Amino acid sequence: MARILITGGAGFIGSHLMDYLLRQGHEILCLDNYFTGSKANLAHMRDHPQLELIRHDVVNPIMLEVDQIYHLACPASPVHYQYNPVKTIKTNVLGTLNMLGLAKRVKARILLASTSEIYGDPQVHPQQESYWGNVNCLGPRSCYDEGKRVAETLMMDYHRQNRVDIRIARIFNTYGPRMALNDGRVISNFIVQALTGQDITIYGQGRQTRSFCFVSDLVEGLVRLMNTELLHEPVNLGNPEEYAIMEIAQKILALTGSPSHLIYLPMPPDDPGRRRPDITRARKRLGWQPTIPLEAGLKETIPYFAAKLRETKS
Ligand SMILES: NC(=O)c1ccc[n+]([C@@H]2O[C@H](COP(=O)([O-])OP(=O)(O)OC[C@H]3O[C@@H](n4cnc5c(N)ncnc54)[C@H](O)[C@@H]3O)[C@@H](O)[C@H]2O)c1
Repeated sequence: MARILITGGAGFIGSHLMDYLLRQGHEILCLDNYFTGSKANLAHMRDHPQLELIRHDVVNPIMLEVDQIYHLACPASPVHYQYNPVKTIKTNVLGTLNMLGLAKRVKARILLASTSEIYGDPQVHPQQESYWGNVNCLGPRSCYDEGKRVAETLMMDYHRQNRVDIRIARIFNTYGPRMALNDGRVISNFIVQALTGQDITIYGQGRQTRSFCFVSDLVEGLVRLMNTELLHEPVNLGNPEEYAIMEIAQKILALTGSPSHLIYLPMPPDDPGRRRPDITRARKRLGWQPTIPLEAGLKETIPYFAAKLRETKS
């Protein structure tokens, strides 16, 4: 049994990760400033004797005794990370520095939740970990993309300079219950629009592709990565099944039986054309691959959003 710190534990992925680690019998410290996370995500585990909640902002240092750190604290959706871009950079840079400082002091192993966004608008397809990316450092997404790139650099430098035992997960689009209603990304947008009978907004012609990993698969990958020895290079975690945005809209329309119509809007700046993980390294080193197909994952996610929408009405 380990003592494990999860920053961003009140968020979408963090709260599922905490469920998993509590089931394994670990002692969990959840650190969050509740910017995009919520106590509702933690309601079912709040009284768990092995869980301690700490309200804290990772841009400020903190001293704790832990064996492992999953560093997830950072808003993940463009709506949220562009709300206060300077704060997003601080969270990525100062937050990661603080967590690395802590890991160094207490000799904890630390895993960074990095992102496929570090590949930017990729010119190589599918993306392998060896690809350096194609990122605009001046655009509205760069506070997040470049922030995570610096966070990865800090991880590698603390590893080389101070022998901190690091893990870097490059997470591709993940979805599932406990995503925020106002998350603003494609799966949540389409489901909410379909369930409320609003037009489904497609950017461009809807031919751009995305791959989506169900949250339980992702959590399994994160835990395997954390517990695999001597794996200091980044590892892609995502579902390599690739879908055009248009196909996803049609699937969601069919599953919800919604009368919504599709409408087409101009593409936002720096929106990547294609994104699909090459997960060869995760397969070989972690023995991991996603198991939940998109349709099965959507069938678990749609009822969650329907319940959330009922809650907000009442
Ligand atoms: N969801 C995805 O598809 C996806 C894809 C790639 C990477 N990631 C990464 O995974 C991590 C978790 O993402 P998520 O989807 O659960 O997002 P989320 O927004 O639901 O969770 C992020 C959590 O971090 C907390 N947080 C934000 N800034 C903080 C700060 N300064 N101090 C303390 N807590 C802070 C938020 O309150 C929230 O609970 C993020 O680092 C994100 O970049 C997510």
